[in-house]
Order: sequence, then structure tokens, then C-alpha cells
Amino acid sequence: MQVLATPKLRAPSIETVSIDLGERSYPIHIGQGLLGDPGSYDAVPRGSMAVIVSNATVAPLYAAALEAALKSRHRQVELVTLPDGEDHKDWTTLNLIFDRLLAVGADRKTVLYALGGGVVGDMTGFAAASFMRGVPFVQVPTTLLAQVDSSVGGKTGINHPRGKNMIGAFHQPLCVVADLDSLRSLPARELRAGLAEVIKYGPIADVPFLDWIEAHLDDLLAGDPAALRHAVRRSCEIKALVVGADERESGLRAILNFGHTFGHAIEAGLGYGVWLHGEAVGCGMAMAAALSSRLGLLAESDAQRLVRLIERAGLPVRGPALGADRYLALMRADKKAEAGEIRFVVLDGLGRAVLRGAPDDIVRQVLAQHGD
Ligand code: NAD
Ligand code: GLY
Repeated sequence: MQVLATPKLRAPSIETVSIDLGERSYPIHIGQGLLGDPGSYDAVPRGSMAVIVSNATVAPLYAAALEAALKSRHRQVELVTLPDGEDHKDWTTLNLIFDRLLAVGADRKTVLYALGGGVVGDMTGFAAASFMRGVPFVQVPTTLLAQVDSSVGGKTGINHPRGKNMIGAFHQPLCVVADLDSLRSLPARELRAGLAEVIKYGPIADVPFLDWIEAHLDDLLAGDPAALRHAVRRSCEIKALVVGADERESGLRAILNFGHTFGHAIEAGLGYGVWLHGEAVGCGMAMAAALSSRLGLLAESDAQRLVRLIERAGLPVRGPALGADRYLALMRADKKAEAGEIRFVVLDGLGRAVLRGAPDDIVRQVLAQHGD
């Protein structure tokens, strides 16, 4: 799939990508200084209670600025601070949100604000999808990964020890406010993890973007604001087009899971939080490229090109030694599997991704090539 879109300019420093989902359409605002600007939240109705959901790392950095921006829009602003970490993306932590919503007297008009990375975003979205059978929410992503991927598209949920993101719901936000300034406080390892999801969009949908990432990788790794802005905008444009065409993943949307079948197995197999999600996806993309090549769909040189880029981004391309049987068992539990058959997102040439099964012996060869 090759996608092209022109972003709408709100002001010179703010760009807005629209995601077209009929009555569930919403804007994704990208720029600097947005988080603390009341105008960023124009899509949110006035007058209700706001509950900011964040975590112990992000709240001290950004909750006060968000709270101040929301004071003129909401009659009351509350903050819930969750423990930080992928290993807390579970029922126990989700319940902390529900406990607080009930304690402060939240109602059906209460708006939740997810302030943080993908873990906070996925859990807040799921809380919003299920509290009183659904309340509105806003995504305020503060990691690169969340700005380019998880805050857009309405997938929400929590992990199960047997499988990543196994319990959840589709629930679209009212808007996404991606403040590039928040990336300045992001640790280098988290920035690299976010680059995995940026790289993903090139091979699945946009070869010129892949060329651009290769040319600007050093700028991205150095946190160059102009490079990050382009990466976030182009990633959101591609994701918005894919989700706009297939909101509930009846087909096309699965391509956004390139590298994730292997990656989710790594995360669940090692225990959540040992490898970062983006690290597991980076390695999973190297494995998926090798699989594409072994299936005769992708030139070996193109697979190598991707592996080199993933390595340059500082991401792993060799998986942990879980053993092939364990990898296969974990991948059979993947949400894309049907009747026990694992289905992988593979590249049918660079720029085009397809979903298909693969013989176990070929998958074992890939694991041997990219495993221990
Ligand atoms: P994360 O949410 O754990 O954030 C990474 C770390 O950075 C955390 O320690 C966090 O507290 C910290 N942090 C966040 N913003 C910061 C900032 N501005 N400055 C300093 N520290 C900051 O991880 P992530 O990579 O953002 O998200 C990964 C999660 O996203 C996974 O659970 C994954 O399954 C999910 N995900 C969901 C979708 C989707 O479509 N819903 C897509 C991709 C990934
Ligand atoms: N991150 C995969 C999706 O949103 O579908």
C-alpha cells in the first residue's frame, strides 16, 4: 500500500492530521508547546469533570501544565497517578483508575486524559471504554512510540500473562495532542524504542518514508525537533489512513502489526517490561523480514537493508533464547491466529505488507537465524 496525504496547517508551528471515522473522526495535533495550551483541547466539550491519568514518572513532569490548561474547560480536574511500567498494564492497575473515578463522583460526561506513554494510553482508553459503559477520553502522548502509534486508532487494553494486549476494546479518543517538547525528557532507550514503530511504516506502506528515515536516522537519534516532527506527522498520516480504511482490523489494519507477532512473543515470553515494547518490535521486524525473504516474497538484500536500519537505530535484531517451541506456542495465542494457525504480517516486496501463514519449519529457520 502506498499512501499520500497533505496535513492541514492550524498555525505555523502546529500541524493537524485528521483521522476520518465518520462521527468518530478526530484531530491529531502535532507541535511544540501544545500540552499546556488550552486551545489544544478545543474538541472537548466544556463543563464536565476531567480526570488526568498518568504515572509516577510522567505526572511530576507534565501533570501541572495539563491541569492548568484544563481549568478553564472543566469544572473540576482530578489526577490519578499509576505505578510506572509495562508490568503494571493489568487488572490491578486498571482498577486504581475505576476506584478513583468512583471516589471523585465521575459521571458519564467525565473526560479522561491519558498523559504518558502507550501503557498509560492503552489503560486509560480501556478504562474510558468500560467505565459506565463508555466515557470520552483524550490522548496526550509523551513518548515517541505513543505519538507515532499507540495514541492513534482507538486500540485500548491490558496484558494477560499468556498474551500481550489480550483484553481490551476499540474506543476512539476525542483528540490526540502530541507535544514534541515532551520528548526532550524521554530517556534515549525509550526514544530508540519509539523509532521501531516509526521504521515500521516505511516497509509496510511508504518506501520514500523508509528512504527518509535512513537519511535522517542520526538526526532522529539526536532528538532533532524538525526530524521528530516529520517522523511523527508522517507516521500519524499513514496510521490515520490505514485505520480510516479498516477501524476494527477486519483486514488492512493488520499490516500495522508488522514485527508484532514475534515481538509480542518476546515480551510475553521474557515477562513484560524486560524488553521494551519497541525493542521487541524492532527484533520482530528483523525476524518478519527474514521470514518474508524465506517465503520468497522479499529480496534478501531488502531484508538485510531493514535489519541494518533496525541495528543502526540501536535496537536488537537477535531474539532472546526462549526456544523455538515456546516462541511457536506463544505466537499461536496471538490475536491474528485463526484455528491455531499463526498468521504473520510479511512483506511482499518493500512498501507492501500482507497477512499469511507460514510452515513451522520455516519459522524455526527464522528463529535460528535471529535467535540464539
Ligand atoms: P511506556 O508507556 O511504558 O513509556 C515508556 C517509559 O517512558 C515509561 O517509563 C514512562 O513513564 C516514561 N515516559 C513517558 N513519557 C515520558 C517523558 N516525556 N519523559 C520521560 N519519561 C517518559 O511505553 P511506550 O513505549 O510509550 O508504549 C508501549 C505500550 O504501548 C505497550 O504496552 C504497547 O503494547 C502499547 N502500544 C499500543 C498500541 C495501540 O495501538 N494501542 C500501539 C503500539 C504500542
Ligand atoms: N498498533 C497496531 C494498531 O494500532 O493496529
